[in-house]
Amino acid sequence: MSDLPDPDVLLDVALTIAREAGELLALGREGTVAAESTKSSPTDIVTALDRASEALVARRLGELRPGDGLLGEEGSDSPGSTGVRWIVDPLDGTVNFLYRLPNWAVSIAAEVGGEVVAGVVHAPALGVTYTATRGGGAFRHAPASAGSASQAGVALTGSTESELGHALVATGFGYTEGRRAAQATVVARVIPRVRDIRRMGAASLDLCAVAAGTLDAYYERGLKPWDHAAGGLIAAEAGLRVSDLRGGPAGEGLTVAAPPALYAPLVALLAEDPPADRD
Ligand code: IPD
Ligand code: CA
Ligand code: CA
Repeated sequence: MSDLPDPDVLLDVALTIAREAGELLALGREGTVAAESTKSSPTDIVTALDRASEALVARRLGELRPGDGLLGEEGSDSPGSTGVRWIVDPLDGTVNFLYRLPNWAVSIAAEVGGEVVAGVVHAPALGVTYTATRGGGAFRHAPASAGSASQAGVALTGSTESELGHALVATGFGYTEGRRAAQATVVARVIPRVRDIRRMGAASLDLCAVAAGTLDAYYERGLKPWDHAAGGLIAAEAGLRVSDLRGGPAGEGLTVAAPPALYAPLVALLAEDPPADRD
């Protein structure tokens, strides 16, 4: 394990490549973008740029980190031989991207020995980049200061809200009819008990917004590793509790991110019948 790279070194690689992929996407967005095909359901779209972004990330990782593993939403899946695996959403928020809404991002996380140690969520149309390393804190960078991971940016500490009834809570919805119907039941229970609900459309950025305190809390069922790997580390490093509904690791069952004071009441609400991690 001693020759495994420092998380800061991995973060610099992630930042470099996320900026290149972000540039490709931002340039591509100036032209015509169309839904090229669908995945899990007719609403689950993919564009040529999702695929082009993942191809760029895979090629650049091959150049900068030969031998590392890669798990990417658009099909990359190799374990690698170095103990490092990259978890990549080449375009999180594809529906926003298609509709020219700015909430989309490139999300790149580095996992060492199965634990995420560095993460970048880069959102060119918002002009913001979020970074974290395990044990090193979470930061927001304006474009001018995002040149290298050593330029620390603004440290993130989450919201100080302690009343669930005053909390602005974000969530998201899956792509299948059955999943959406179940999620609608849960959100109908949550809305009367919180300040309001937001559906921003990019899970990685929802987690970063909770880290930054521009949302108080977030929950979503059905996230894949590429949706929450980088953002989950950023939220945790900002001091938030990030887990599933039962205190285990965040994941496909449910991902909850909240400041310590909101976590228990939010989880209790989500665990009422029917629980938010069932459909
Ligand atoms: C989706 C977005 C959305 C979330 C979905 C994700 P994609 O990712 O993060 O906010 O609600 O669960 O699948 O498809 O745009 O990469
Ligand atoms: Ca995604
Ligand atoms: Ca995606």
